[in-house]
This record gives sequence, structure tokens and C-alpha cells, in this order.
Amino acid sequence: MKQSNSEALFVEAKKYFPGGVNSPVRAFKSVGGNPLFFERGKGSHVWDADGNEFVDFCCSWGPLILGHANDAVTEAICTTAAKGASFGAPTREENELASFILQHHKYLEKIRFVSSGTEAAMSAIRLARGYTGRDKVLKFEGCYHGHVDALLVKAGSGLATLGTSSSAGIPESYVKETIVVPLNDIEAFDAAIEMYRGQIAVVAIEPVPANNGLLIQDGVFLRHLREVCTREGIVLLFDEVISGFRLGFEGASGYYGIQPDVLAFGKIIGGGMPVGAYGASAEIMSQIAPDGPVYQAGTLSGNPVAMAAGLAQLKELVKPGFYEELERKTVKMVSAIQAHADQKNYVFRIFNMGSIFWVSFSKEKAIRRMDEIPENSGQLFAPFHRFLLERGIYLGPSGYEVGFVSAAHTDADIDKAIVDFCDALDHVYNK
Ligand SMILES: Cc1ncc(COP(=O)(O)O)c(C=O)c1O
Repeated sequence: MKQSNSEALFVEAKKYFPGGVNSPVRAFKSVGGNPLFFERGKGSHVWDADGNEFVDFCCSWGPLILGHANDAVTEAICTTAAKGASFGAPTREENELASFILQHHKYLEKIRFVSSGTEAAMSAIRLARGYTGRDKVLKFEGCYHGHVDALLVKAGSGLATLGTSSSAGIPESYVKETIVVPLNDIEAFDAAIEMYRGQIAVVAIEPVPANNGLLIQDGVFLRHLREVCTREGIVLLFDEVISGFRLGFEGASGYYGIQPDVLAFGKIIGGGMPVGAYGASAEIMSQIAPDGPVYQAGTLSGNPVAMAAGLAQLKELVKPGFYEELERKTVKMVSAIQAHADQKNYVFRIFNMGSIFWVSFSKEKAIRRMDEIPENSGQLFAPFHRFLLERGIYLGPSGYEVGFVSAAHTDADIDKAIVDFCDALDHVYNK
């Protein structure tokens, strides 16, 4: 595969950006080699700076549920941008997107648009603290909620411990407000609740944890969180930045039938433009400025171009059969790949939930916690990823990241992916 143009662009990018990138995972560090620079995408396909073509299963890490440069989304962006990119004042487009979402999402009464998933999670935490008058945040090991100080925290030693920061630059005093417990572990969760009774403002979870593999949770565990939060007066925050509008229009809340107190969104809600949002009941949202005392603002919040892109995308999702078709294609793909792995007796599982999938180099039938992911998973993923690139399949460059199937993937794309993934497994296990 020719890569000289991408390589030259990367050499240049390193002069401008730390590591040559504007977001770390893009640097290909965990799979080796150099990142590809993309020039163009249409539907399920992308083209890089050397003219290589790929079937894309990264889909910009999830937002592009309709694929690249969808006609309706592109038209909405262009027509709206032609009328002015930003006003810093209210616009009709904000109303239109909000009204559409609220009408089709029974777990929300009011919403606030922001510009990223990180901002959504950060604001949701502040809202929960303001609403409860408490300080502590409980999160789960392996869940990612953006690069928010209070949430870039990993478990310390022992069960139900205060965490330690997973990034330099976060004061220990902030981290002391965050409790980290393992996923899917009712005992550890209950112990933490007991230990910090009356101090916890919010329990924050990705109801479908999809940032350290795909750690599908037991519905019993999620329902337990709901019951305990209600009993203890704690805000339950579902971070649906990935699962929102992906598992169904109502995301994981709808899938499990659980009403969280606050929801955070990003990715799909903006149609590929930078948008995030958080929402809750009208009562909880009345805490937000200017109605209430919790301050949160944004120069480009509710940007009309981004709103129009989001609306154009979301309108496609409510069409009958949309999610069923996505799932059909994903299941077709993962079951054929799994059947091949089983037949060859490879230590491999490909998990999916709706149109989210994840490859794991292990035999476990279910992986629900981070410490259940085999340590060599990353090493085996690197040659697997490289092989697929050479075959014209693009996966996110990390074995801990999930892949996405979009509405634009055709059965021919899926058939190609099945052959290429199976060959990639033969390559990894037989070389
Ligand atoms: C569950 C979850 N929350 C929050 C974020 C942060 O979103 P953003 O990258 O838009 O800031 C992400 C990003 O991947 C995410 O997956």
C-alpha cells in the first residue's frame, strides 16, 4: 500500500501539533506505523492522501451513522452555512433540533446544546452537583466520559476506592472527589455507596461502555444503579455519547427501559459537526443558568450549521426499519466472522450490540469489566489492523476501540469485510 503522501503530511503535522495530531488515538501509536491522512469520504468508503480506498468501520468514531457526506446532511450544512455560520444569538435551527429530539425521546424533557461530548459530560456533572448540593462523583473503571478533570480518574487499589488521576495536570484535590468502582459489580458499588453515604452527587456510567472494548452490562446491574440512586437521592447520569441514537433513537435508556436523571450526548446528534448536549427533566434542568444557579455557557453552542446537520441526520433515524437494518448487517458480519474463528478454534470473539462491534482476542463469552480483557489483546490487534488496512478496511487504530456499521454500508461491503476479517485472523494466528 502506498503511503508516502500520508507520511509526508505526518512529518509536517509533527511540526505543528504534539505527536502530529489533534487527538491522541489518531497517531496510530497502539498499532504502529503512521496514520493515514484522509481526503474524502462518500457513504461507507473513504480515500486517503495516496488515493487508497477503504471501507470505513470507524465512521469518525461513531457520529456518521448515515456514512460520509450523506446527501441530506451535506445539503443542510451548505444551505445553512450560506445564511451565516454563527450569530451567538438564538436561531430557529436550535428549536427545530430540540423539538425533534424531545418529541422522539421520552427520557428527556429539556435539553441544552454544547459543542462536544466532553462538554456535555462536564456540564452534566456540574448540574448534578448543583442539584444535589453534594460533591462526590462515582464512576466506573473502563468508562470514558471525555477529558473532564473529575472523570479522567482510574481506580486506586482495593474495592470502592478513591481514584487516582489518569492524566498529568489534574490536582489530587479534584481526584479526591471521584470514586471509581468496577463495572458490573453490585457488591463493590453497594460498598462505595455505603462508605460515602450522603456525599455522592452523581453516579456516572456509559450504559453501554464502549471506550475500553465493548463491555456489555447486565440489565440487572443497570437497574440496580437506578434503584440505589433513587433511594439515596443521587443523580444517575447515563453518558450516551456513543449509545445515544445508535442503539435506537432512545439509545441505551430505551434499550434497557431505564429512566436516568441526566443524559449526555455527542457524536450522532451533530451529523458529523461538533455538537454535544445534555438533558433531563424540566425540574432538574431548571437549575441551569439563566433559570437557575448552575452556570454553563458557550459561544458556539447551538450553532445553526451544526443544528441543521444534526436534524437532517436524526430525521433519517426515525424512518421505519432503520435500526433493524443496521443490526441485520452487523449481525450478518459478526456471526460469519465468529463462525470462522470457532471453526478454526482461534482464541477470538467479536461482540456486538446493535451496530457497535468490538474484536477481542479472547475466548470469553462475555466481557463486562476492564480487568477481564486479556492483556495480549492489543499486541494481536496490531497485525490484524495492518492486514485489514492492506486489504482496504479501515478500523480505528486501537484494539480498545469499537467499530461502527452505518446505514451506508452495503451488503457488498459486509461480504468484503467478512472475507477480509477472516483472512486477517488466519494471518494473525498462522504466521
Ligand atoms: C461515552 C463518551 N463520553 C464522552 C466522550 C467525549 O466526547 P468528545 O470526544 O466529543 O469530547 C466520548 C468520546 O468518545 C465518549 O465515547
